[in-house]
Amino acid sequence: MSTIDSLLSRRSIKLVQGPGPNEQELEQILRAAMCAPDHGRLQPWRFCLIRGENVQALGELAIGANERAGNPLTEQKAASVRAWLSKVPMLIAVASHIDHAEEKIPELERVLATGAAVTNMLHAAHQLGFGAFWSTGLGTYGEEVPEALGFDSLDYQFLGFVSVGTPIHNLGPAQRPDPQNFVREWQAA
Ligand SMILES: Cc1cc2nc3c(=O)[nH]c(=O)nc-3n(C[C@H](O)[C@H](O)[C@H](O)COP(=O)(O)O)c2cc1C
Repeated sequence: MSTIDSLLSRRSIKLVQGPGPNEQELEQILRAAMCAPDHGRLQPWRFCLIRGENVQALGELAIGANERAGNPLTEQKAASVRAWLSKVPMLIAVASHIDHAEEKIPELERVLATGAAVTNMLHAAHQLGFGAFWSTGLGTYGEEVPEALGFDSLDYQFLGFVSVGTPIHNLGPAQRPDPQNFVREWQAA
């Protein structure tokens, strides 16, 4: 597949199963993240790998964290999270490092660089034949789950999880909007 065909055919795939990426494929996915545009080469992206049985343990942690925060998932939602994660071979937790000493490059640009790194990972996973999906569920916006993963909110903006694995269903191409609806041209008067 050409690079442009790969870019144009990527779609998020939530329902995946094993096998997940092997070590070499994972290395390529992570290397793709390192190729993201990054103002000032601050390298703000941080990743934490969650594999095998730890994926289910993370799910239980997130379900419990919601409960402890007074915002419990409905039984139905908790069951659907468990069913989803029971098949997911790998989650990549994502955070952007907050550099308190950095004065020149705004925090927003560091978060954007981390988001670009995630996009590169989504594309690399797709190119390698995997399904990948970025989600900000699983306690992303609470304190407990990011902290348990080593991402203290004083030093990190936690940005959720990328699940990666073998697609369970063949979803076919996604419907995409006409780019012309989002573009205009400015010309000097
Ligand atoms: C930062 C971010 C967070 C997201 N969080 C969720 C989420 O928690 N749940 C969800 O269903 N989709 C979430 N999405 C959307 C999916 O990852 C995906 O983009 C969407 O299903 C559309 O699929 P597509 O990427 O093929 O267009 C998120 C996307 C982004 C960029």
